[in-house]
Amino acid sequence: MSWGPRAIVDSGALRHNLGVVRRYAPRSKVMAVIKANAYGHGLVPTARALIGADAFGVARLAEGLALRDQGLGQRIVLLEGVFSKDELDTVALHGFEIVVHSPQQIELLRDWRGVKQHHVWIKVDSGMNRLGFRIEDFPAAWQALNECPSVSAKPRLMTHLASADERDSQHTDAQVSRFRVLVEKLGVERSAANSAGLLAWPQAHMEWVRPGVMLYGVSPFADGVGAAFDLRAAMTLCTRLIAVRLVKPGERVGYGGSWVAGTASRIGIAAIGYGDGYPRQIGSGSPVLVAGQRCKIAGRVSMDMIAIDLANAQSAQVGDDVTLWGQGLPVEEMATCAATIPYELICGVSQRVTVEYR
Ligand SMILES: Cc1ncc(COP(=O)(O)O)c(C=O)c1O
Repeated sequence: MSWGPRAIVDSGALRHNLGVVRRYAPRSKVMAVIKANAYGHGLVPTARALIGADAFGVARLAEGLALRDQGLGQRIVLLEGVFSKDELDTVALHGFEIVVHSPQQIELLRDWRGVKQHHVWIKVDSGMNRLGFRIEDFPAAWQALNECPSVSAKPRLMTHLASADERDSQHTDAQVSRFRVLVEKLGVERSAANSAGLLAWPQAHMEWVRPGVMLYGVSPFADGVGAAFDLRAAMTLCTRLIAVRLVKPGERVGYGGSWVAGTASRIGIAAIGYGDGYPRQIGSGSPVLVAGQRCKIAGRVSMDMIAIDLANAQSAQVGDDVTLWGQGLPVEEMATCAATIPYELICGVSQRVTVEYR
């Protein structure tokens, strides 16, 4: 029995969530976004669970290589593209598809003298101002890439939505229509929707959707949980109580003594802390489940431990399970406690945490 923190990943939930994606966007192909260690769920096992996707999206070349190393021969798109001739050589060798978002990347492709042709996705900046060719620069980029011998015919097109998680924002409609108008006569495959675009903006679906966070069972919206869309939490972060102690009224608990016992209290010490990716910003009073009972954190999160007021779990013992987020305690709720977004919590689980697949 492991006493340290574990991230239990439910591959059935991952597959189920891919099914939800297909229900929402039945006419689109799915590029499953598994960058950043599959949002903390483990790159390779997650890819295996999501093998039914039409392609995988990763940010960087190293992530693509890690998938190929483990024998995954699926289509893989490098969402940030490549930055040197050597990287282009590697892309050709492994058959990755690349996003082209800058004039420098066009130059690299023009100068490349390999035998194979590269499959590219041209990124259009429809209003996010992060990556991509601005609307006015797109026609020249399109022409240059279509004339480039090292680029295969019919480059695909991609844009990214900046505010799709704000359901009443004007920006998404504006981005989608700018993109549609710009590329409508080109007759090639297009992609715009991330999870929020997929769930809330059907006009953004097009030929490809690119869900990330919803595959992990998490809502992309600030005001709800994945279950509202029939998504299932794929990661449950848990640990155990490694000590239980009694404190007297007036005694202080943890660093800085910020939690003070109002009455005689049982305090559980659980083996997890910010060294495991459980943020220190999660304040005193935030929820955890102890043997399934909702309890409150007492005082500050330290590097390897948290203290829990066991008032709601009077019979809790050393060795009992403690759930930090996942089944029974939505990561969306914990993100609010940490004043962040659930993406950051799941991506932030540290390498010290054992990942178990079920
Ligand atoms: C280019 C691109 N597409 C799709 C996604 C998936 O986004 P989400 O996790 O919000 O679905 C991301 C994630 O940041 C991204 O950068």
